[in-house]
Amino acid sequence: MYGDDIASVLISEEQIAEKVEELAELVAKRYPADAPEGDLLLVGVLKGAIFFMTDLAKKLTVPTQMEFMAVSSYGSSTSSSGVVRIMKDLDKDIAGRNVLIVEDIIDSGLTLSWLLRNLSSRNPASLEVVTLLRKPDALRTQVDVMGVGFDIPNEFVVGYGLDYDERYRDLPYIGTLNPKVYGGK
Ligand code: PRP
Ligand code: MN
Ligand code: MG
Repeated sequence: MYGDDIASVLISEEQIAEKVEELAELVAKRYPADAPEGDLLLVGVLKGAIFFMTDLAKKLTVPTQMEFMAVSSYGSSTSSSGVVRIMKDLDKDIAGRNVLIVEDIIDSGLTLSWLLRNLSSRNPASLEVVTLLRKPDALRTQVDVMGVGFDIPNEFVVGYGLDYDERYRDLPYIGTLNPKVYGGK
């Protein structure tokens, strides 16, 4: 559908589905169904986390509510400064709630570490992270995460919510991008 823009399938649709079920089990174990804090609050980080968020929520065996946040890094696009701007904030107060941030990928970790600081200042009862992907070789800051789907090499990946210049999010799998797309050889 995108010609030869996709160089290879890194993680197939089936592998993603299997991993989402595993992560859903892990999450359900951590949070009792009748927690005194009320339903688990999933906070999806737009736009990348859309598919992971909805697929995970459908597999969870504990009652959950869903909120979304959209954030964007300031400054040059080549190196993330770690300074983040809120494009869309949560609609609800999270004080006293069990909050689980749902991310598609931890790359440098700067977005997430900012988000963790921001949300923890709102006094949730607990704050954890689940991410489908992580790039250990790209990490620039230490972030504690409860669940990681796949550790992947430091390559440009797209699909299942992840974009390059807003394209390819709609692919059902995670693929590597042909370098010709972003100007490489
Ligand atoms: C991507 C990705 C993560 C973040 C990870 O989002 O979805 O949210 O970058 O990068 P980091 O660990 O280096 O901070 P992006 O800002 O591209 O927005 P998007 O989700 O709308 O694509
Ligand atoms: Mn994102
Ligand atoms: Mg993006």
